[in-house]
Amino acid sequence: MLPTHRLYTDLAWLWPAFSPPADYADDAGHWRDALRQRLGPGRHSLLELGSGGGHTLSHLADDFDLTAVDLSPQMLALSRELNPTVPHHLGDMRSVRLQKQFDAVAIHDAVCYLLSEEDLADAFATAREHLRPGGVLLLAPDYLKEAFSGPRVLHWICANASPPFTVIEYCHDPDASDTTIESLFFFLIHEPTGLRVVEDRHTTGLFPSTTWLRLLDEAGFDAELVTLPGYEGGYGGHLFVAALR
Ligand SMILES: C[S@@+](CC[C@H](N)C(=O)[O-])C[C@H]1O[C@@H](n2cnc3c(N)ncnc32)[C@H](O)[C@@H]1O
Repeated sequence: MLPTHRLYTDLAWLWPAFSPPADYADDAGHWRDALRQRLGPGRHSLLELGSGGGHTLSHLADDFDLTAVDLSPQMLALSRELNPTVPHHLGDMRSVRLQKQFDAVAIHDAVCYLLSEEDLADAFATAREHLRPGGVLLLAPDYLKEAFSGPRVLHWICANASPPFTVIEYCHDPDASDTTIESLFFFLIHEPTGLRVVEDRHTTGLFPSTTWLRLLDEAGFDAELVTLPGYEGGYGGHLFVAALR
């Protein structure tokens, strides 16, 4: 199933200015450290599921043999431009099968688009299918249930983009008893004909760390949660590091 979010389809061209590659250098560094620590020195193979514009991968190409998978043809096109030597595949992280094994699999912020325990279990099965024994899975959700205290508003002013635009995100939890939250994005785009305002709703998953760790264990992983510095605005800073038994 292809994505319907406007940010990853007709508005994907906003991504490089809205969330530039430089913003991913720290997270890529944490991945590099975690993988070197578990896998040892050497040039390891790394598959990213939900690789988006390839901004995280762009910091890792010198050290790893990379492969990218995403659900959005538009995001894959951006990533191919940024990472021309990396093989890219269209696929869903819950079901894609490349018939190849890697030393490591990673899912960055795209992991937030898994909405149910079944989605998480399916994605962990995909990771398992693509890892050699002893391989490492990295997962970096934006929010954990115990650390989410919405509602919150974030904004990004991209005055130097062409055309200039501003993004406002309102993130809230409409139903605290389920496993999802909602982000409403408002894109204010200064087109030559005037200001265009686009609304884009994203439903994302919200699970306690105990759920992540239980499902990883059930999928055959020994996992730990590493706490790192998060992003300004209070998201990020959680990295599950899981070794395949
Ligand atoms: C926030 S972006 C990822 C950005 C990425 N970290 C980067 O470096 O540019 C989220 C991505 O997840 C992808 N995505 C959402 N659900 C997916 C799924 N089930 N399988 C694969 N990709 C998915 C979207 O198409 C989108 O490109």
